[in-house]
Amino acid sequence: MSGAVDERVNLAGIELRNPVLTASGTFGYGSEFSPFMDLGAIGGFVAKSLTLQPRAGNPPPRIAETPSGMLNAISIENIGVEAFLSESLSALPENVVVIASCFGTEPDNYAELAAKLSESPRIAGIEINASCPHVKSGGIEFGQDPRLLGELISRVRAVTAKPLLAKLSPNVTRIDEMARVCEGAGADGISLINAVQAMEVDVETQQPVLSNILGGLSGPAIRPIALRMVWQVAQAVNIPVCGIGGIITPEDAIKFLLCGATAIQVGTANYLNPAAGREIAEGIAAYATRKGFPRVADLIGALRLPEA
Ligand SMILES: Cc1cc2nc3c(=O)[nH]c(=O)nc-3n(C[C@H](O)[C@H](O)[C@H](O)COP(=O)(O)O)c2cc1C
Repeated sequence: MSGAVDERVNLAGIELRNPVLTASGTFGYGSEFSPFMDLGAIGGFVAKSLTLQPRAGNPPPRIAETPSGMLNAISIENIGVEAFLSESLSALPENVVVIASCFGTEPDNYAELAAKLSESPRIAGIEINASCPHVKSGGIEFGQDPRLLGELISRVRAVTAKPLLAKLSPNVTRIDEMARVCEGAGADGISLINAVQAMEVDVETQQPVLSNILGGLSGPAIRPIALRMVWQVAQAVNIPVCGIGGIITPEDAIKFLLCGATAIQVGTANYLNPAAGREIAEGIAAYATRKGFPRVADLIGALRLPEA
């Protein structure tokens, strides 16, 4: 089905066999998903955000189902950069494109992490998580302040020659401004959006459903917000955009490409269907074929606007 159309895209210097990545925090370190899907069937994956030291995250309950979405406050539980480099990467087949995600509490942590990750030839690119909505220190502090965001991206840029993606928070007023700051600071691409800051309450117990009180909303509930932001950012910068937020079906993914995304990431959908990424990639290729586009890349920004 996908033989005729050229599915390849280039995301910020990363050659992808198709535009479908899986999103950080929803696909572990990759090999957890290999029983369900040939990892070579997707463009690549973004690994769980890493910190310099292993991190336990928040106590449960830290996940809850919401209408058309999920709320989480995992808080960057991860194995730490050393275990990722020495164990997780070697468990992956050579043909799998791996993008590492960095998280820290200050620019120096991020830079130290990025420098360590940059030494590995297995890492195709680095995504800076400047947007986790439920960690008390770090992440979103950077993602909501243009000056701090610019400093963070510049600091990481100085230590890595790998393609650098800045992952933005939707919890801001001017997403286009935040993207421009990242472009100016040397990012090669913009990933958006991370989860939307949210909360939910159990009326029987009269308590918040999450131990952390606040969490991040993901899934189809946030897709139109994400689509709007991708559209605005794609027009504001000259670097490629990777669209994230509520992508469940191939049609969802195609909407992001039409709005200007060069590639997309599948997050919450992996919990419903661990082979979602492969099915979405196949569906995009089938759509391009049906619509007569010789290359999937021709869909990028192909939105037809109403006559002015
Ligand atoms: C359980 C869970 C854990 C997540 N962990 C991370 C993370 O470690 N780093 C990160 O950048 N984003 C993380 N995210 C955010 C996703 O990568 C993605 O940006 C967000 O969920 C929106 O996409 P979706 O609606 O397709 O899930 C997490 C999301 C979920 C649901």
